[in-house]
Amino acid sequence: MKMVVANFKSHQTISEAEEWIKVFKNGYLPKEEIKVVLAPGFTNIQEFMREVEGLRGVAIGSQDSSPFPPGAYTGAVNARQLAVLGVKYAIAGHSERRKWFAETHQEVANKIRELLEQKITPILCLDRDYLNIQIAALESEWINRIVVAYEPVAAIGSGQAEDPEEAWRIAEKIRAKLPEVKAFIYGGSIDAKNAMSYLNNGFDGLLVGTDCLDPMKFLEIIKILG
Ligand code: PGA
Repeated sequence: MKMVVANFKSHQTISEAEEWIKVFKNGYLPKEEIKVVLAPGFTNIQEFMREVEGLRGVAIGSQDSSPFPPGAYTGAVNARQLAVLGVKYAIAGHSERRKWFAETHQEVANKIRELLEQKITPILCLDRDYLNIQIAALESEWINRIVVAYEPVAAIGSGQAEDPEEAWRIAEKIRAKLPEVKAFIYGGSIDAKNAMSYLNNGFDGLLVGTDCLDPMKFLEIIKILG
């Protein structure tokens, strides 16, 4: 099973999401072996749920979740709230969260615990600099329930994707430490031209940021992988 995750980041108003969905639904052709995960901002999750969740091969994800259970944590959206909406995946520890929101390795681990309790599959983002310390914060029984995304920070949003062979070399090091993860994907300046080379080198899928914002570009990536 290959996996393609769209991370819309802090883009899209509700009407922009509606537009995106319209174009996506028009062009989407399900492929048996491809799982598409769409991760809109919290304010658009219900719209995606209503409009796209029923499509074959498509699941809705979240870009983040609370490290806490339900309770007095103003502003936090918790895993239970997401699960009730029908969210099946959630990104945890994206480098932008670590950088702009000072998210710690322990907070990321706490998010993963909360997500797994609600049967949401975490997509844990890792880069080489903090790999070991983040892995040390995980509990061993979580490992076979998570997806890992190798996301070299320099490649994110820069248009400079990491060389696929080099990316796989690092990914193999991560895999040696986390051999039973559900899937191992790559993220960082993926486009329709470079997408296939990561799968050819061994990755199970891709996390797409910039090029998911245009539904035509995102559809092209799905098409190429199939
Ligand atoms: P990008 O984002 O495709 O814009 O590099 C990827 C990501 O943030 O995972």
